[in-house]
Amino acid sequence: MADKIKPTEQTLDPQDWDSMRQLGHEMIDDMFEYLKTIGDYPIWKKPSEPSKNALTVAIPQAGESADSVYHQFKENILPFAMGNIHPRFWGWVNGTGTPLTMLAEMLAAGMNPNCGVGDHAANYLELQVLDWCKEMLGYPKQASGLLVSGGSMANMLSLAVARNSIDGLNVRNDGIASAKLRIYYSTETHNSVQKTIELLGLGAASIRKISVDQHFKMKTDELAAAIATDLSDGLLPFCVIGNVGTVNTGAIDDLQQISAICKKHNLWFHVDGAFGAITNILPEFHDKLAGMEQADSLAFDLHKWLYIPYEAGCFLIKDPKKHEAAFTVVPDYLMHHERGLAGGPNPPGNLGIELSRGFKALKVWFSLKEHGVEKYRTLVRQNIAQAGYLASLVEKTSELELMAPAPMNIVCYRFKKAGLKQDVLNELNKEILMELHEQGIAVPTFTLIDKKYVIRVAITNHRSRREDFDVLVQETLRLGNELIRRFQ
Ligand SMILES: Cc1ncc(COP(=O)(O)O)c(C=O)c1O
Repeated sequence: MADKIKPTEQTLDPQDWDSMRQLGHEMIDDMFEYLKTIGDYPIWKKPSEPSKNALTVAIPQAGESADSVYHQFKENILPFAMGNIHPRFWGWVNGTGTPLTMLAEMLAAGMNPNCGVGDHAANYLELQVLDWCKEMLGYPKQASGLLVSGGSMANMLSLAVARNSIDGLNVRNDGIASAKLRIYYSTETHNSVQKTIELLGLGAASIRKISVDQHFKMKTDELAAAIATDLSDGLLPFCVIGNVGTVNTGAIDDLQQISAICKKHNLWFHVDGAFGAITNILPEFHDKLAGMEQADSLAFDLHKWLYIPYEAGCFLIKDPKKHEAAFTVVPDYLMHHERGLAGGPNPPGNLGIELSRGFKALKVWFSLKEHGVEKYRTLVRQNIAQAGYLASLVEKTSELELMAPAPMNIVCYRFKKAGLKQDVLNELNKEILMELHEQGIAVPTFTLIDKKYVIRVAITNHRSRREDFDVLVQETLRLGNELIRRFQ
């Protein structure tokens, strides 16, 4: 009798748990094989026309089987991946992920907590991970922080705290329309900062870009002079940004000097250490990083040089009161309670602008526990040594030219031939780069240094081996010598 009663309410859970479980096992098997053999395949394939067409269909009104959807994923999506988990990927500054963190992502999605509020394990785990970040970066333990999507968001929220903490202004209430605020950073600073400044309502006119020396480090005498001029013009300097690892070349600004200038004028000192800050786990970097611990705020990424899968960034604010005062708005429906699920740690939703937040801490926790900081030391050192190896190969090769110092994990070089004009060399190197991608060989990317197009290799990849850099050099030479005929 009971089985004749048909349920009238529905769910998205499977009707047949066993076949869903079997599909899950198949997916895991497939992904492990994929990760294990990734280096055997071309690094990148342009998405095919049929695969793109398959992604422009009308929204399905009726569902289909999970097996069928997975089949389409394998056919149209997986083969056209970005390639950033491949051993020869060194584009932009991209992370590579790991097998266990892939599984951790599955566990986090299975638990599916909202990490904006509440007395539950995920929010305590985030505090644990933030404490570990402070320890790795040598940042004071009492600092407050938050996991965010990446370095751009970390810069944005840090600078929002800086803007909201200016003495004598109540920006949260009054806005900034009447303030003539000024912010200072080097010409090598990442574009996320300018986007942030515009978004925070400060206007791009508030930016003072300070030039760099031959090592691409901010000229601090020019910084001091710019601040003095602005003060005497009645403007209101409020913040200086120092870089730990510039995006073009990996340069580290003189943080001690910047910190001293900030202290002298009571300015907020922010550090963008998106990928470079993690080098603090290496004692041999401590001298170069001296002063980072003085920063009022520090932005960095875990999805870059900690090899955590996307997305995972973090920012830390030295004064927790200023952090909280920058964002907290507590409506009736979010009041903190003494007990029950609405109690627990200070709601992370009060420390940024997102209320609904995914469980980013789990993958970081898994990875740090699985490998320990010592293993990370080995890997970060390995990448730095690989950059040194590549730079030395370039210097030894007469048809290649090293275009900037390589103080960390970034190498900028180009193919050259005597007698070719600058614009021809630019075009030639751009062609070489596109062929490296299209032939599925390697993915460096590019930048301009003094208007010269350079091939830029940023190594935050635990799968790269020295032989991969030999391949890059050989193939750059092969392509350069083949393509040059078009330009002569
Ligand atoms: C120095 C620097 N700052 C900020 C960012 C932005 O970080 P994300 O891409 O995680 O938003 C990057 C990205 O490469 C970077 O290299």
